[in-house]
Amino acid sequence: MSSLATQLDNQAQLLARLAQARSITEDLFRRVRSDALYDRPIRERHRIVFYIGHLEAFDWNLIAGQALGLGPADTEFDRLFAFGIDPVGGGLPQDTPSDWPPLAQVESYAHHVQRVLDDLLSGRLRVAESDWQFPQDAILNVAIEHRLMHAETLTYMLHQLSSERKMVPQDYRSVDSTQHGPPAVARMVVIPEGTATLGVPRGGETFGWDNEFEEHSVPVQAFTIASHKVTNGEFLRFMREGGYDDRRFWGDEDWDWIKAQNITHPNLWFMLQNQWFYRAMFEEIPLPLDWPVYVSHAEASAYARFAGESLPTEAQFHRAAYGTPEGVEQAYPWGDAAPDATRGNFAFHHWDPVAVGSTPAGRSAFGAEDTVGNGWEWTSTTFVPHPGFEPFPYYPGYSADFFDGQHFVAKGASPRTAACLLRRSFRNWFQPHYPYVYASFRCVQN
Ligand SMILES: [Fe+2]
Repeated sequence: MSSLATQLDNQAQLLARLAQARSITEDLFRRVRSDALYDRPIRERHRIVFYIGHLEAFDWNLIAGQALGLGPADTEFDRLFAFGIDPVGGGLPQDTPSDWPPLAQVESYAHHVQRVLDDLLSGRLRVAESDWQFPQDAILNVAIEHRLMHAETLTYMLHQLSSERKMVPQDYRSVDSTQHGPPAVARMVVIPEGTATLGVPRGGETFGWDNEFEEHSVPVQAFTIASHKVTNGEFLRFMREGGYDDRRFWGDEDWDWIKAQNITHPNLWFMLQNQWFYRAMFEEIPLPLDWPVYVSHAEASAYARFAGESLPTEAQFHRAAYGTPEGVEQAYPWGDAAPDATRGNFAFHHWDPVAVGSTPAGRSAFGAEDTVGNGWEWTSTTFVPHPGFEPFPYYPGYSADFFDGQHFVAKGASPRTAACLLRRSFRNWFQPHYPYVYASFRCVQN
């Protein structure tokens, strides 16, 4: 059974995947001490309790409301919990904990929604095939993947909570930040001129979000790309050489942002007695020099300028990760086999990164390590629609609200990305001044 599935599954598989996704997000809320559930770990976003309601309100509004044309589960809560916040340039939310309903009410709403949806989906409540106003498998994939994406965004939100506000999972194993052997040294890998196939064909066997359509080819000139992601150790050199104070490395808006926010190092680093430390999800450790550095797009771009290099475009990333010297393109960097833990740091096996190059079985045909897993990878490509884009009628704002020139495409996966999101066409996007995401990068020379 698999959260790996990206093919169109049968109904029973979809329901099992929905149940599995629910257990992942429910376990995540159990990582928060009950007196911290009304905290706002990221000031631009909602309080944690919002998301307990949101995951269920989203499913209700999508499945019962849009797809089956049923009435509300709860008129007030369906609306209150409908939408998150994308923090671009707006003011910060000003609500207080007492503006939100008590936890017992939110949980009771959540249980009610799950119970009725399960009855509808399992046939315990009669729903005729013809009652579905949109294809049922697409609707269920949207619900499942929406929840799994929140499993990741919630994790990086909870990452910002101090450790005494969190509960360590019972099966938690302390991070292994010790270096095994000499640190990986990135070399530049030559990628010959060729074609990158972006997107996915409409009407095919694979579920995709609206922004993944349609499939099209992009010619890519020859370039070289680093075999490994930029590490904390390499980024430390940029900092020691004054990178955050050198105007030349920063775009105008990026410079204004780091100066206005007094940003002088990656978000998860902190200094103690003149030594750099790293805030992992559940512990604080000396800075692991061979882990990929997680930074905003602004910081990644500054490093690339410092190094005399660039961030890859989305098409260059595709060539490096999925292309082959023979000209065939593969489903995954390692080939067409389904993802497993030997191929990369993804699918919830770890809470934090591992040393770059730790999963050679996931190496791409051209020799790029960790392209999928161990941190999303920034590209220089602005998030724009593929040719032939059409918004989903039941979720028109999913992508279209972000085609504003203020978001950049990220590819690959982080340790907390579900396996079903590893398909080649999947695109993530973030705004450039958002330092909390699990996003890494590597550079190219054109
Ligand atoms: Fe959402």
